[in-house]
Amino acid sequence: MWSGVLTILAGVIIAVDGSTSEIDLSYRHIKKEDFFVKIQHTLNFHELTELNLKGNEFDSFLDCSAKLDHLKSLDLAENQLQRFFFLCNDEYALEYLNISHNHLEYIDDQALNQRTNKLKVVDISHNRISVINETMIEHMKVLEFLSMAHNPVIDIHEKAFLTQKNLKHLDLANIGAEVIPNSLFRPLTNLTFLNISFNPITNIPFLPSSLLELDLSGTFILYPDNIILPQLARFHLNFMPNITGIVLNDFENFTMLEVLSMERCPILSEFRVWPPNNRILPRLHHLSVKGCDLETLNDDLRPIMQRIALVDLQNNPWHCDCRMQWVNRLNLSSELSREITCNTPEQHHGRLLSQIPNHDLVCLEISTTTYTAIWASMSVILIFLILTGVWLFWRGPLRHWRLPKRNGDTVSYKNVVESSNDLIRILVTDDRAEE
Ligand SMILES: *[C@@H]1O[C@H](CO)[C@@H](O)[C@H](O)[C@H]1NC(C)=O
Ligand SMILES: *[C@@H]1O[C@H](CO)[C@@H](O)[C@H](O)[C@H]1NC(C)=O
Ligand SMILES: *[C@@H]1O[C@H](CO)[C@@H](O)[C@H](O)[C@H]1NC(C)=O
Ligand SMILES: *[C@@H]1O[C@H](CO)[C@@H](O)[C@H](O)[C@H]1NC(C)=O
Repeated sequence: MWSGVLTILAGVIIAVDGSTSEIDLSYRHIKKEDFFVKIQHTLNFHELTELNLKGNEFDSFLDCSAKLDHLKSLDLAENQLQRFFFLCNDEYALEYLNISHNHLEYIDDQALNQRTNKLKVVDISHNRISVINETMIEHMKVLEFLSMAHNPVIDIHEKAFLTQKNLKHLDLANIGAEVIPNSLFRPLTNLTFLNISFNPITNIPFLPSSLLELDLSGTFILYPDNIILPQLARFHLNFMPNITGIVLNDFENFTMLEVLSMERCPILSEFRVWPPNNRILPRLHHLSVKGCDLETLNDDLRPIMQRIALVDLQNNPWHCDCRMQWVNRLNLSSELSREITCNTPEQHHGRLLSQIPNHDLVCLEISTTTYTAIWASMSVILIFLILTGVWLFWRGPLRHWRLPKRNGDTVSYKNVVESSNDLIRILVTDDRAEE
């Protein structure tokens, strides 16, 4: 038994440094029983401030048998936790708790409660949490960092974050939410980072104006309009399946924006500034539209492209014709045209735009002589059609007349040349003959 414990403890990193002391027991295949029954008696946990149990085989964690009075940081990530509790002290000093990559299905009322109310960082990502209800983190009033990303959440209560006024970083990426309650983020008046990417949402909920970074990637939003975030510096709109075009003027309100990325949007084929406006996005220094469906860049983009330090345009199906000449004329110190590989037309396929001289960037135009020829032939055809029509109108009906006889039978006259008076006379005679 002891040799087992000693093997586990061989090379354990114990750092003691005045006020902090930490033990690193990460990735040692430790089971709950090993830890509580054997290991904790050989190490002094009482003064411990940091405990790293990442990557072990705990299926639950109960603090009672370990005296974790001074513990500030507990890393239980990458275990097989189904539940964990903080029960045995009235108050915990815990500030950092990492329980990501576990098997948690819910957060018990005895897990995060008023005893653990000093928590500043909580990472619950990559678990099996299905409900975020209004009591789950209500006691975490000084929480600054929360990640619930990659959980199969089916229900988020609109008051789930009511008491998180200090929250700065919130990650709700890939939680399967089709709808995010509109007022969910309203209490988060100090939020600076928000990630709600890879959720099939079609509507953007209310966003706190304190945001500096926003990630809406992989959502089903049709167009990112009506967002007013005066302080936003980084905006991510990658992998947007439903966005077909972006008009940069719609980002006019983002005067502090530094990074804008719209990478790998499969049907994004239009990207422009319209009407022309040289003052939009004054602070932008990194723009990426790589891997989209862009074929050409409009001249209206010239002023903004010229001042952005880093533009990433790779992997678009560029059509290198006369409309792209302006890109080539830009000073090539910018990365811009060096990265444009032409897709069409045929003769430029696979070539870099910067290596094609501008006189080879031509648009398919119809020459003046061709125009004249087309017009002439169309006029001839038109006159011919009119003449044929007129001829048929006068000539056609005389070729085949059918007139009704009084008792229903009809008499046909072919190629009648007599005047209509003669015809009436003949018909009258016929009728009389029958009587
Ligand atoms: C928690 O642990 C996971 C897995 O080791 C790690 O990726 C993540 O960065 C940690 N979270 C925090 C907030 O440190
Ligand atoms: C919130 O969820 C937890 C865990 O499922 C449960 O114990 C608690 O009672 C729920 N709170 C409310 C108000 O429903
Ligand atoms: C958006 O794209 C997704 C994925 O391609 C598709 O399932 C969804 O129906 C689209 N939504 C709209 C409104 O076009
Ligand atoms: C183009 O870039 C070079 C350095 O790469 C610089 O010396 C030159 O002044 C620039 N010209 C213009 C017109 O900006």
